Amino acid sequence: MTDTTQTETSKDSDRVIIFDTTLRDGEQAPGCSMNLEEKIQVAEALEELGVDVIEAGFPIASKGDFEAVQAVSARIETSQVAGLARATRKDIDRAWEALRGAANPRIHTFISTSPLHMKFKLQMEPEQVYRAVIESVTHARNLCADVEWSCEDGTRTDFDFMCRCVEAAIDAGASTINIPDTVGYTVPEEYYDMIDRMRARVPNIDKARISTHCHNDLGLAVANSLSAIAAGARQVECTINGIGERAGNAALEEIVMALRTRADVKPEWTNIQTEAITKTSRLLSSITGFSVQPNKAIVGANAFAHESGIHQDGMLKNAQTYEIMTPESVGLTKTNLVMGKHSGRHAFKAKLEELGMQLGDNQLNDAFARFKDLADAKKDIYDEDIVALIDDSLLGGSDRIRFNAMHVVCGTTGPQNCVLKLEVDGRTCEAQSTGNGPVDAAFACVRRIVPHEARLQLYQVHAVTGGTDAQAQVTVRLEEDGKTSNGRGADHDTLVASVRAYVNALNKVLEKREKTAPEAMRATA
Ligand code: KIV
Ligand code: ZN
Repeated sequence: MTDTTQTETSKDSDRVIIFDTTLRDGEQAPGCSMNLEEKIQVAEALEELGVDVIEAGFPIASKGDFEAVQAVSARIETSQVAGLARATRKDIDRAWEALRGAANPRIHTFISTSPLHMKFKLQMEPEQVYRAVIESVTHARNLCADVEWSCEDGTRTDFDFMCRCVEAAIDAGASTINIPDTVGYTVPEEYYDMIDRMRARVPNIDKARISTHCHNDLGLAVANSLSAIAAGARQVECTINGIGERAGNAALEEIVMALRTRADVKPEWTNIQTEAITKTSRLLSSITGFSVQPNKAIVGANAFAHESGIHQDGMLKNAQTYEIMTPESVGLTKTNLVMGKHSGRHAFKAKLEELGMQLGDNQLNDAFARFKDLADAKKDIYDEDIVALIDDSLLGGSDRIRFNAMHVVCGTTGPQNCVLKLEVDGRTCEAQSTGNGPVDAAFACVRRIVPHEARLQLYQVHAVTGGTDAQAQVTVRLEEDGKTSNGRGADHDTLVASVRAYVNALNKVLEKREKTAPEAMRATA
C-alpha cells in the first residue's frame, strides 16, 4: 500500500490539478444551494484540503453568486479562485469584477460546440461559435492572466470542429482546455481516445493543460475522469461527495483515492491532503442536508465497516485482507478520547478539535450544555453523535428563533397534540396545535409562532448510530420564492430533533428574506 500522495518517484509532469466545482456545478443541483457564509466555509475547507482551483460560482447568474465569488476571492490565499462566464463580454466583465480581488484569479469561459447545442440552445452557426471562442478568450485574457476555456457538450461535438476551436482558444490565450462530458454520455474507452487524438491533432496543444469534467448520468463520471487522466489530461474537475446537476459530477474523493491507492499502476498524483477528506465531506453534507448514501465509496458510513464474521476475522488477523486503504488515510481516526457524562468542558473542546471543529466561547458553552443533556440520556457517546450535535446554529448561523421546550402527546388514539415553546428575538412564545401525527402537530406550532409561507420540501430522519437510544439527525428543507434553505437538528428525541431542524431552516429563510426585503417577520404567538 502506498502511503503518500506524492511518492519519491512522482514526476512533475504527472501532477494532476484538482479543480473543485462544488460551489458552482455542485451548488447548481436542486437542494444544494448554500448561503454566503456557508460558501465561504466550504471554500476554506477546500483550501485546507489542498484543492488547486476552487470554482466559486457563476457571477452573472445572480447577485448571490457574484457576492460569493467576490467573498471567496477576498478570503482564499493559496488555492486559485475561478469564476464561470459564458462567451459574452458582459458575462466575462462581471466574472472579472467578482474575481479581481483574488490572489490568483482565473476566468473560466465556455460555449457549446455540439451540433445539438449550437442549433437548439445557441441558435448559432458553427462559424459564429468559432468566432465567439476567439473573441471571448481574447477578451478574458486581456483582463486576467489565467483563462480556461470549455467546449460545453464536448463529448457530443464533431471532433474536427472541436480541434479547430481548441486550437483557436489556445492561440487566443487559454492555458487550460476543458473537454466536458456535460450530459454524462461518454464511456472510458471513447473519452480516452478523444483526448489522445486531440493531443496528436491540435498543433499548439502543448501550450495548454487538458482538463476533464464529467457528469455521472451513466455512473461513469469517475471512470471517465481517470481514463482522461490516463490519456494525458492533467486537470480534473470534480465535486465533494459527487454533488452536481442530475446524477452529479465526478466525486473528488474517489478520483483522488483511486490515484493514491493504485499508485502502483497509476503514476499521476495530486496535492490533496487526503486526511481532510472525511471532514470536508461531512461539512458539505451538514451544510446542504445532502447525506451521502451509506455504501458510497470513501465517505459513506459503511465504506470502512466490516460486518460479516469472515471479514471481521480476516481484519483482525491482517487489516489488508479486506481494506485497500486505511480509514486514517481519509481522516477517519480511531480515537482514544472516549466521551461520556463525566467528561469535562476541556475534554469536550479537545474532542471537537480532534474532529476538526473550532467553536467560539459562547458556541462552545451551548454545545457543551447540549452534550451534557445527551450524555445524561445516552450511555455511549460516539464521534458521530458529537458531529451531529454541532448544527448550524452552533457554527455561527443565524438564530433569531431558538428551540426552548416541547411536550407531545402521540399514539394510536389521536389527535396527536404538541405544545411548543420557542424564543423569537429573545422573547419566549408558546403555541399549541394538533396534527396528523406528532411531527405535523409540532411543525404546525412553529407556523403558529412564526407565520410563514415557506413550503416543506424535504423531511428526512437518520439514526446517527445504532441502538434504540441513538440520536436522530433530521434534515428539513424549506422553499420560499424559489430559494431553498436546509436545516439540521439532532437529539435523542426524534421530535425535538425535527423541531430543531425546522427552526434551523426557518432561520435561514428569514435571513434570505431580510436580505431582499428588510421588513422582518414577526412572531405573533
Ligand atoms: O458540464 C458542463 O459542461 C459544465 C461547463 C460549464 C464546464 O459545467
Ligand atoms: Zn458540468
